[in-house]
Amino acid sequence: MSSSPQHLKVPADASRLPMTLPRLAEKKALGEPIVMVTAYDFPSARAAEAAGVDLVLVGDSGAMTVLGYESTVPVTIDELLVLARATRRGLRTPFLVGDLPFGSYEVSDEQAVATAFRFVKEAGCDAVKLEGGGPVSVDRAAAIVGAGIPVMGHVGLTPQTSTALGGYRAQGRTAAAAARIAREALALQAAGCFSIVFEAIPSAVAEQLMPRMEIPVIGIGAGSAVDGQVLVFHDLLGIREGLGARFVKRYASLQDEMAAGVGAFAEDVRTRRYPAPEHGYSIPAEEFDAFRSGLERTAERRSHRLHS
Ligand code: KIV
Repeated sequence: MSSSPQHLKVPADASRLPMTLPRLAEKKALGEPIVMVTAYDFPSARAAEAAGVDLVLVGDSGAMTVLGYESTVPVTIDELLVLARATRRGLRTPFLVGDLPFGSYEVSDEQAVATAFRFVKEAGCDAVKLEGGGPVSVDRAAAIVGAGIPVMGHVGLTPQTSTALGGYRAQGRTAAAAARIAREALALQAAGCFSIVFEAIPSAVAEQLMPRMEIPVIGIGAGSAVDGQVLVFHDLLGIREGLGARFVKRYASLQDEMAAGVGAFAEDVRTRRYPAPEHGYSIPAEEFDAFRSGLERTAERRSHRLHS
């Protein structure tokens, strides 16, 4: 294995150009669907790279998918930075967005900008994402954009504040709630966000908003009128127990495959089918003879000393 994964010798597709903000805007203008997926480590990043996705999000969903927390609330900046750095090492072309964890940006503009800088400087993220479209989130987004870091917004179901939203449930299902999402999305756009996630909102509400959205809108449970779609890596590949949200479409059942693979290995070890001769290493006969004679001579000398 290469000692330096940052300098991968063979890019998945050497002809593909790295995604940039102008290219993303161009995709929206041309009506080309934008693909975003979450990733949290080197192998998931390599899968995203090989698939040629446009955007990769080191989501705070990693709190649950890879760190085993019950929600996104407890995950720390340092924990997400470890995941973001590993993801960065696996990527060449997708635009990398780091999710700012709960409590790392709300307190002040200074706190938000300092956290965003860590994601860019320490993990190589191209941009950051923050949740919510209320006055606090809008101010923080504007401050980070003002400091020169692109920001992706996120409205609708915002898991970091799901307790306040009444749980993990679709948002914007009343006229007032839909109007609030519209206000928030437009405020984040006016604050300078380069893109925005619409999560778990009625498809009709998203569709109604689209003519007002000048920035690319990435949907997750927001229907097909938006500019692109995102799914959580572990959801789409079935590396998770349970069915997940209504919007999840499963393209594989890797959790079952992993359990079956580890189970087969355990069975092989217990029945001594593994390792087979082909899994071992050989030594030239003369070297082995010399080694064995040396061991025998040592044993003889030891026995001689004991009995003299
Ligand atoms: O953390 C995450 O995975 C996200 C996506 C669902 C957009 O925020």
